[in-house]
Amino acid sequence: MMEHVFQQGAQDAPVLLLLHGTGGNERDLLPLAEMIDPNASVLSVRGNISENGMPRFFKRLREGVFDEEDLQFRTKELADFLDEAAQEHQFDRSNVIAVGYSNGANIAGSLLFHYADILKGAILLHPMVPIRNINLPDMTGLPVFIGAGTNDPICSPEETKELNSILIEQGANVTLHWESSGHQLTKPEIDQARDWYDNQF
Ligand code: MLT
Repeated sequence: MMEHVFQQGAQDAPVLLLLHGTGGNERDLLPLAEMIDPNASVLSVRGNISENGMPRFFKRLREGVFDEEDLQFRTKELADFLDEAAQEHQFDRSNVIAVGYSNGANIAGSLLFHYADILKGAILLHPMVPIRNINLPDMTGLPVFIGAGTNDPICSPEETKELNSILIEQGANVTLHWESSGHQLTKPEIDQARDWYDNQF
């Protein structure tokens, strides 16, 4: 099990899987879910890693350099948790859409990189390429929204474009949205993500 919050939404509405950034927790993105889809169920998870007291979803060796062994272990742990949580909270496992910011976007990306059909869609806010040189699953038709900042010092525009290309190569249906911002979340990108979500689901 992972520390989490579950909020039941309307019948048949999607389940938003909320994944916070480094130093965040399972309450951080609840307002974001409310902005994206107030009818959705919410499964908001706390990362199992503590980096000097800051929760994360996987270990890193240093800023921007991931511990790939731990990333893969934690990705499987989260995938297994989704199955368990669907049982416990009686939600439709095939109706889960990830909303991740920063480190949370990276573990969401890693779910997509490791498992076919793991998510119905994903909103990746300020993501990086989670891992390179692995065989990727088919992602045909998978709806993905990427929110990025042209001045993001952590997720460089080059890396954002690389992630975009990789996802498209696997068949995902990617919408890439830029703001002239840094690593922080901005209201305009959340509005764009909501409009995209309204059109997709
Ligand atoms: C990561 O470690 O996942 C990225 O550098 C983003 C972050 O700082 O959380």
